[in-house]
Amino acid sequence: MAQRIRKAVFPVAGLGTRFLPATKTVPKEMLPIIDRPLIQYAVDEAIEAGCETLIFVTNRYKHAVADYFDKAYELEQKLEKAGKLEQLALVREILPPHVRAVFVTQAEALGLGHAVLCAKPVVGDEPFAVLLPDDLIWNRGPGALKQMADHAEAEDVGVVAVQDVPRALTGSYGIVSAPDFNQRHGLIQAIVEKPDPTDAPSTLAVVGRYVLPPGIFHYLETAAPGAGGEIQLTDAIARLITDTRVDAYRFKGTRFDCGTHMGLIEATIRFALDHETLSEGARATMQAALDELGVRIVE
Ligand code: UTP
Repeated sequence: MAQRIRKAVFPVAGLGTRFLPATKTVPKEMLPIIDRPLIQYAVDEAIEAGCETLIFVTNRYKHAVADYFDKAYELEQKLEKAGKLEQLALVREILPPHVRAVFVTQAEALGLGHAVLCAKPVVGDEPFAVLLPDDLIWNRGPGALKQMADHAEAEDVGVVAVQDVPRALTGSYGIVSAPDFNQRHGLIQAIVEKPDPTDAPSTLAVVGRYVLPPGIFHYLETAAPGAGGEIQLTDAIARLITDTRVDAYRFKGTRFDCGTHMGLIEATIRFALDHETLSEGARATMQAALDELGVRIVE
């Protein structure tokens, strides 16, 4: 895959049941960390990695995602009239001019693998990225996808992001076996979905960033429905590695699983504490709340 990725797929057609009732009307990807929705963090990461075509796989209830990336004429006019130029720039700069957004519908939520397959007509015959926006990855240096895209290009391989998880948690993740793993990357020899801790081949867990060759579509098209009747991306990758080199890549950065309540809370706290203007206030608020509850963090 010596070719640089130019296209990124964002599967956002899931039901987001863990955040009901909010997700009855607000898609999970639009939940904010401070003042930016989750989807914006993933989009910025993809653009930083060099992607210029962003493909959103949505369902018919997710107008909010398309509206967010669309031009908001009325709002822009009002902000301009009111002289709120800083806010106007924020609204206008959601996507840089050289980047285009394409929307594809997944008619039925048949799984992550199926959602990725829905993007095939737009991706065509070239390597591409997949980003799951509820995995928010924070790094002071280059973003996770940029690190992975650089590796994919340099080594001519597909790349799957991994992080270490406690063995007790392997049942919640796709787990890879990469015997030559050198602390940063290694060739994947096997990948299994949600193995029991006693059967897990390692504790390297797949998280929501992938750089995939177009050959993955063949395996998605011919995939049998797996766990829960869904077409699993992991199953297709397990077949892809029989004819294509795919590396596990341990990115630099911290991942927050914003598909869970605790992950969203943790990300909000971390981003608030690190925020240019909100940090001091956030610290004071947290301290006051802990004092009120009689909780002592430092003994
Ligand atoms: P999740 O497993 O997090 O499912 O999907 P979900 O529906 O979003 O959330 P919960 O579990 O009900 O709370 C992982 C990713 O795959 C996408 C989701 O939008 C999310 O980004 N997905 C999943 C689809 O696009 N289509 C599907 O059919 C399933």
